[in-house]
Amino acid sequence: NVDLKESMFLVSEFAQKYFHDTLLHSDEGKAIGLSYFKERGFSNETIKKFGLGYSPESWDAFSKEALGKGYKLEFLESTGLTIVKDDQKLLDRFRARVMFPIQSMSGRTLGFGGRILTNDKKAAKYLNSPESDIYHKSKVLYGIYQAKQAIAKQNNCFLVEGYTDVIQFNQAGIENVVASSGTALTPDQIRLINRLTKNITVLFDGDAAGLRASIRGIDLILEEGMNVKVCTFPDGDDPDSFARKTSYEDLIAYLDTNAKDFIQFKASLLMDDAKNDPVKKADLIREIVVSISKIPDRIQREIYIQECSRIMDISEQVLVSTLAQLVQKDI
Ligand code: CTP
Ligand code: MN
Ligand code: MN
Ligand code: MN
Ligand code: MN
Repeated sequence: NVDLKESMFLVSEFAQKYFHDTLLHSDEGKAIGLSYFKERGFSNETIKKFGLGYSPESWDAFSKEALGKGYKLEFLESTGLTIVKDDQKLLDRFRARVMFPIQSMSGRTLGFGGRILTNDKKAAKYLNSPESDIYHKSKVLYGIYQAKQAIAKQNNCFLVEGYTDVIQFNQAGIENVVASSGTALTPDQIRLINRLTKNITVLFDGDAAGLRASIRGIDLILEEGMNVKVCTFPDGDDPDSFARKTSYEDLIAYLDTNAKDFIQFKASLLMDDAKNDPVKKADLIREIVVSISKIPDRIQREIYIQECSRIMDISEQVLVSTLAQLVQKDI
């Protein structure tokens, strides 16, 4: 089994090099893939740092090349790089896409995300490697290999949704950033970060889906005993698009001023329409207390109760008794 996995890693690493070389050295790769990345503002250095690539517009160019080099079909198939059709013909999974290799904490290639080159709203924008013995989506954070040192050094991790958010932040000089890659955040992903820092700042897209994902993420992070802040972006922006049009100084200042702790974030979400509506305000306060109830540490819970009392202008007593109903532990 260890041998089987190692063979899958070797095939994945061959694919990463193949897509990277195709991007940098083939006519098609340069004309289509490289110019796409350049248009998005990625430098050669950034492209190398993340091992970005291009998969050619061909049914089986990659699979043929890999088989020719002696890689076994078994592992091309189990990594999902090659699809064997009913008539036994081979099909490359990734065709005419820019390629984002997904790496483990230690830098091994586990799988890929491949993006189409247009902004056609009808087509699925990204195609990803399937789950396999080496690629478990729920246990992986995109960019963790490149980010781990900076996360430990800054003692903070920015958590974004997408591949290009991670890359654009790096390009802007902010390296302590990883992506959940569009999947709902999982406890395993949060524990990966927990090995490096206790502090997470959630930076999800400035749309309804991003907001919902942030709210869900908060409780999971609190349950791991970590500190969570949330910084939102204007509707229509994501960290990538925002960073691209903002100078380094202004980006740092924006993150600094707009990162709120989870109580301020939840309060601000509904404040506008809930302020003069006692029923809505009560719901909101209960929601905040539910989040506080997820915090394992009793003293921290107490501190957040005080903050909630202050911000929401409600007595600590009533918050404590609501909390007591939620927390079976000693309070
Ligand atoms: N995603 C995916 N499959 C899709 C759409 C999204 O796997 N069909 C994942 C990708 O990891 C993507 C992330 O979800 O990076 C966030 O999605 P989205 O915000 O739609 O894409 P962006 O990362 O903003 O991509 P781009 O800027 O290239 O449009
Ligand atoms: Mn994932
Ligand atoms: Mn989005
Ligand atoms: Mn996005
Ligand atoms: Mn984007």
